Amino acid sequence: MGNSERFTGRVAIVTGGAQGIGGATARRLASDGASVLIADIDAERAEANAERIRSTGGTVSVIRTDVAVAEDVEQMVHTAVTKWGRLDILVNNAFSVAGGGLDSGSISGGATDVSELAWDRGMGVLVKSIFLGVKYAVPHMRQAGAGSIINLSSVHGLMMAEGFLVYEAGKSAVIGVTRQMACDYGPSGIRVNAICPGHIVTERQGVQWQAHPDGLEFFAQQYPVRRTGTPDDIAGTIAFLASDDASFITGQAIAVDGGLTIQLQENLGVRLAKYIKAHPDTYLPY
Ligand SMILES: NC(=O)c1ccc[n+]([C@@H]2O[C@H](COP(=O)([O-])OP(=O)(O)OC[C@H]3O[C@@H](n4cnc5c(N)ncnc54)[C@H](O)[C@@H]3O)[C@@H](O)[C@H]2O)c1
Repeated sequence: MGNSERFTGRVAIVTGGAQGIGGATARRLASDGASVLIADIDAERAEANAERIRSTGGTVSVIRTDVAVAEDVEQMVHTAVTKWGRLDILVNNAFSVAGGGLDSGSISGGATDVSELAWDRGMGVLVKSIFLGVKYAVPHMRQAGAGSIINLSSVHGLMMAEGFLVYEAGKSAVIGVTRQMACDYGPSGIRVNAICPGHIVTERQGVQWQAHPDGLEFFAQQYPVRRTGTPDDIAGTIAFLASDDASFITGQAIAVDGGLTIQLQENLGVRLAKYIKAHPDTYLPY
């Protein structure tokens, strides 16, 4: 649901904006009036999302970008500014849990499992990408005296689990760089915030769950609100943080997680044990 005036005349870049959370964010910012550049390693899907935005009257363009590559990110910012003359909003979202964009081995496992190459590539897409995006975007925002940068962390940046070394080191670092950058650029009128989503059923995740709806229901049971999230849940929060309504909010890592991370774990453990007892055939993904 759009608020079509609030970003009129403003320019946004959404990395990983072809689908999932980034896809919904690109659509939301455009429906709220922004001109949106979708920067994604998957140009074909990005173009399909752009077509969807154009069909509803939005202003959008696409650039193929690998967010871990400096020249690509520099070109991404250059394209937005050349096309529309300014840059107001940068959403650093690109990363596929499903593995897209990671061509150098699996990032799952602990320190003894993960290759050096996978660590470097994972950190490149998760963390270096934000350094690069901010490096090239901030000079333009500084010139305008305003800007909003939103970085995608995760509940995995707040709480740790077995076998997620690279992802959780990366998502924790996203919170660290967000706080640091908020200090550096606050004086220039630029706000920097992070969002920590819980389990969001994107197009990709949805396909995986189709075979196991009972497994998804088990996930839902772990949330105080008894449901998992949608890309629009996150897009709405991103649009809020990008807007003037959030003008006094910076350096925050906001959990958008249906309450997942505020529960007392002992209590949750007992409740889930009861649930499994009542539903013994529930699919458990790991
Ligand atoms: N879906 C969730 O449950 C969830 C939860 C917490 C955090 N997140 C975070 O939200 C962000 C988006 O996740 P999603 O589930 O929507 O992912 P997704 O896989 O649905 O979409 C990610 C998009 O990023 C693009 N991408 C991947 N690597 C890239 C690269 N190197 N350069 C440019 N584009 C690249 C992909 O092509 C894809 O279009 C990620 O940072 C993810 O870690 C997701």
